[in-house]
Amino acid sequence: MKTYIVGNWKLNFNVGEASVYLHKLQKKIANYRDIEVVVAPTALCLQSLSLQLDRSKIKLGAQNAFYQDFGAFTGEISFAELNGLVKYCIVGHSERRYIFHEDDKMVAKKVAAAIRHKITPILCIGETESERAFGETADVIRDQLLGGLSEIGAEDVSKVIVAYEPVWAISSTKDAKIATPDEIAEVTEMIRKNLKEVYGAKTSEEVPVLFGGSVKPTNAGAYLTTPGINGLLIGGASLILEQFTDIIDIAKRVK
Ligand code: PGA
Repeated sequence: MKTYIVGNWKLNFNVGEASVYLHKLQKKIANYRDIEVVVAPTALCLQSLSLQLDRSKIKLGAQNAFYQDFGAFTGEISFAELNGLVKYCIVGHSERRYIFHEDDKMVAKKVAAAIRHKITPILCIGETESERAFGETADVIRDQLLGGLSEIGAEDVSKVIVAYEPVWAISSTKDAKIATPDEIAEVTEMIRKNLKEVYGAKTSEEVPVLFGGSVKPTNAGAYLTTPGINGLLIGGASLILEQFTDIIDIAKRVK
């Protein structure tokens, strides 16, 4: 399986800044056959970045889209519009869930719309600090995982990437903590166990599982060698070119 290194730029970099960053990134990295480097800029940057993109090195991802293809949905963009522009779309990021009140039903419809338009959804799941403290992690993981997959057929589950992002480890969370490889391995096992129970052993092994939450060059090696982890979803560190390219180098080394 490939290793996925995904940069989630969130609401950072305007069109000009994004273009300069991509130009520098493409100069700095090579074409790695077994590492999939993805950047997810704001929707406004996608069109222009796609024109300068060297697809042999980097793929584009969107951060969000709505599940309806078109219609009276002021302010939204659709997976239908993203078709052909991006290979990936982050779905159900915790910021979407907690700031924009997206629930598992909404997330599931978005996962289905992504698949319908041949875009790989990166389904984000993860417990909050209080859910973990109350011993609810396994339930939250199961609900968000199976809930998020509930609108697609079993044959499409292996087209989804799952990202485990504990909310308490995301760098923008107040008093964010650093997840340990053991904590991550435990949840990765839960994810694969749930997938296996519902969709069978083969599918559970085919679904890539990424980790996200305060990933830096200093911890990327440990996370990438955590059992069951197939890549990283990186927020803050993906905005700093040296850090992002260092993480790509680390991925290459541990592969
Ligand atoms: P972070 O963000 O790397 O800044 O913690 C990760 C994410 O929210 O996807």
